[in-house]
Amino acid sequence: MCGIVGVVGHKNARDILMQGLEKLEYRGYDSAGIFVTSAQQGVQETGQLIKSVGRIADLREKIGIDVAGTAGIGHTRWATHGKPAAHNAHPHTSSDGRFVLVHNGVIENYLALKQDYLSADHFDGETDTEVAVHLIAALAEQEGLDTLEAFKKALTLIEGSYAFALMDRTRPDVIYVAKNKSPLLIGLGDGYHMVCSDAMAMIRETSEFMEIHDHELVILTKDTVEIHDLAGNIVSRESYTAELDLSDIGKGTYPFYMLKEIDEQPAVMRKLSQVYADENGQVTVDQGIIEALVNADRIYIIAAGTSYHAGYASKYLLEELTEKPVELGIASEWGYNMPRLSDKPFFIFLSQSGETADSRQVLVKVNALGLPSLTVTNVPGSTLSREASFTMLLHAGPEIAVASTKAYTAQIATLAFLAKAVGTAIQNDKAQAFDIVHELSIVAQTIETTLSEKAWIENKITGLLATTRNAFYIGRGQDYYVSMEASLKLKEISYIQCEGFAAGELKHGTIALIEDQTPVIALISNNPKVAAHTRGNVSEVVARGASVVTIVERAAAIDGDDIIVNTVHPYLSSIAMVVPTQLIAYYASLHRGLDVDKPRNLAKSVTVE
Ligand code: AGP
Ligand code: GLU
Repeated sequence: MCGIVGVVGHKNARDILMQGLEKLEYRGYDSAGIFVTSAQQGVQETGQLIKSVGRIADLREKIGIDVAGTAGIGHTRWATHGKPAAHNAHPHTSSDGRFVLVHNGVIENYLALKQDYLSADHFDGETDTEVAVHLIAALAEQEGLDTLEAFKKALTLIEGSYAFALMDRTRPDVIYVAKNKSPLLIGLGDGYHMVCSDAMAMIRETSEFMEIHDHELVILTKDTVEIHDLAGNIVSRESYTAELDLSDIGKGTYPFYMLKEIDEQPAVMRKLSQVYADENGQVTVDQGIIEALVNADRIYIIAAGTSYHAGYASKYLLEELTEKPVELGIASEWGYNMPRLSDKPFFIFLSQSGETADSRQVLVKVNALGLPSLTVTNVPGSTLSREASFTMLLHAGPEIAVASTKAYTAQIATLAFLAKAVGTAIQNDKAQAFDIVHELSIVAQTIETTLSEKAWIENKITGLLATTRNAFYIGRGQDYYVSMEASLKLKEISYIQCEGFAAGELKHGTIALIEDQTPVIALISNNPKVAAHTRGNVSEVVARGASVVTIVERAAAIDGDDIIVNTVHPYLSSIAMVVPTQLIAYYASLHRGLDVDKPRNLAKSVTVE
């Protein structure tokens, strides 16, 4: 969600900031801006400030070649306070123009701060951020504090989440940085330093990074990085090298990242087998994780959105092989309404980004209770990864499209390795018999076959979803969980109102919504216990005029079925069954002429609660 980039040194700041903001676009935003100045100590600079509502391309159009300098800060905003508009876009400045600030997050007490300290000030917009920069200026002026002290004092008064990058026009060779809850990272270069919301936006410039912890303040110049803790002590910290590859984040010849990422899924499945199994097919999961899980009496999976659905898709397999009950928690609910826990709980945080604020809120509580936790994430070094007891990585490569696809399937596969490892440790028969590497290779082949039938799938749904306002996915058991994810995917990128329903539940109310030609997509995997019942529910909606498309595993298929998925092991059916639904969402969005990768109102990384 939104992003910050800053640079100070000898490089062309305008180009670095704009390239950085483009790399941050995937996170979701509605406006953007940059401030560029010259990083010369002792030289007072006016600098140039340019802001625009809309895309980075709109901002680029406003930036002339005269905008030049070697230091600056840039921002993509995802509005929380005040509508998306140029006057609410960041950077924001103090009334006298001296201080320039970008901010990600939410300042919860901004109205009180405004009232207590800034009642005489005029504000250009409605953001909480503008209050913060006015506050810094007020503290500097009224209390005679230098920039560092004024910033520090402001941080003690501010409540909420923030990643801040602050510049002072009288000291253009310094960027002041602070964070609490919102992600922010330092990038190290030779003769220049950077600050950014994520490593991806900096890898063109550097692969050497340094973490910032909550409540720390960092003073960046071209040659120095000085980290202060809350008490004002200077903290020393090692840097690390990130293994990101610039080619991973290119779109190649694909029109949209989402299609590229859907296509990458077979490779991700194979990669996971390389990472989590040895050459003999023995599963290699960290022994500490296995022991912690063996000792637990219940598994709690905490996640949001697609990751939450991946948790559901993995519940059955985890319960079967680990012999422990698995409970799912919506992160935004559990942060404040934690139910009664078992005696020996083990928490699994599922998160593609590893930065979801709602999930982190629960992890903070879990850590305060001293309970063990595992983060399963795609982003090494992310907040949830750093703060949990253990991490398992998804190895899916950067996921740029807002709509998550390969992370969902990678999450289920990764949890399957975990289930197999724990099940083997407790000598569960089903775990010992489950040849996960072999079964996952079949899944990879099945996905490849589905991907080779894109044109067929596109053709099947184009008419059905072209103009409809609503649609339904239905299924039972594992298919119900997939239908939850399938409907979220369709909603978020095509804006069709879509619900995923347990097929048997329709007749208890929702069937009242079925009208002539209402699209209903039925998922029927090869589960003989329920397949016939789902077909019964299909007949019920057909009788009421619905236009039905069936997605069926080959072993359960009958004449007239629409989309056939090659049969895989029942533990892994969700991975195979979800792929056609990802393609359905993609083509529905494409045919409606929408921006598939950047749907309205959404952010990739949801870093506010
Ligand atoms: C998925 O398509 C969505 N963009 C969203 O639901 C996402 O899965 C959710 O915000 C959780 O994100 P995370 O996996 O990075 O924690
Ligand atoms: N709360 C700030 C605003 O509304 C920052 C939002 C963001 O993180 O982009 O401008």
